[in-house]
Amino acid sequence: MKITYLGHASLSIEAHGKTIIIDPYITENELAKSIDINKLEADYILVTHAHGDHILDVETIAKRTKAKVISNFEIVTYFEAKGIEGHPMNIGGTWSFDFGKIHMVNALHSSSFPDGSYGGNPCGFVLETAHHKIYIAGDTALTYDMKLIPKLIGELDLAVLPIGDNFTMGVKSAIKACDFLACKKVLGYHYDTFGYIKIDKVKAIGRFAKKRLELNLLPIGDALKL
Ligand code: NI
Ligand code: MN
Repeated sequence: MKITYLGHASLSIEAHGKTIIIDPYITENELAKSIDINKLEADYILVTHAHGDHILDVETIAKRTKAKVISNFEIVTYFEAKGIEGHPMNIGGTWSFDFGKIHMVNALHSSSFPDGSYGGNPCGFVLETAHHKIYIAGDTALTYDMKLIPKLIGELDLAVLPIGDNFTMGVKSAIKACDFLACKKVLGYHYDTFGYIKIDKVKAIGRFAKKRLELNLLPIGDALKL
C-alpha cells in the first residue's frame, strides 16, 4: 500500500491496483501548489465530512475520473445530485469493495456543508486490505471509541491522525490516541495549512518519539509505503 500526502487532510492511497483519494482540498491550499488535481487518478473518493477543507475538489476530480464517492448518506446524496456516483454508508458499517473493506467509524466533530446545509455526521475510516489495516481518523477529538477499533477490526499498521489542534486533536491527544488504538506508527495530517493549526514539526516528532511512537510528517507529494 502506498499513501501519498496531498497536503492538509488529503491523501491518495494505492491499494490492490485501485487509487483512493481522501478528502481532496488542494486547489485552495497555498502549500499544495505542486499538486495538479487534473493529473490525479482516482477510482474512489472517501469523504470524512462536509467541511470545505475536505470536499473542495471532490466534484472536479470525480467528474473527470468517474470516481465513486464513499461517504455518509447525506454527502453521497449531495454529490449524486451533481451526477456523481456514490456509495452511502453510516457509522458502524462495513462494506467490501474491489480494493478491500471500508469500515466507517465514529469521529467527534461537526459536518455542515460550506453553505450551512446538513452534512450528516462526521466519520473516520478503516481501510482493510488483505495485507494492511490503516485508520484514517478524519477531523476528530480524542474519543474512547478509538479503543474499539483494534478490538473489532484487529491490529492497525498505521493511524492517520489530525495533529494541528484547535479544530481537531493536537499532539498531546494524538499521542493518547496511539495508546487507545494500540498503534505505534502515525501519519500526521490536518496541520500547518492555515493560522490556527500551525505546529512545530520537530517538536511534535520529538514528543511522539519520547513515547516510542513514530510520527511521520511527509512533505506534500511524498509517500509512505507499507
Ligand atoms: Ni472539519
Ligand atoms: Mn478540517
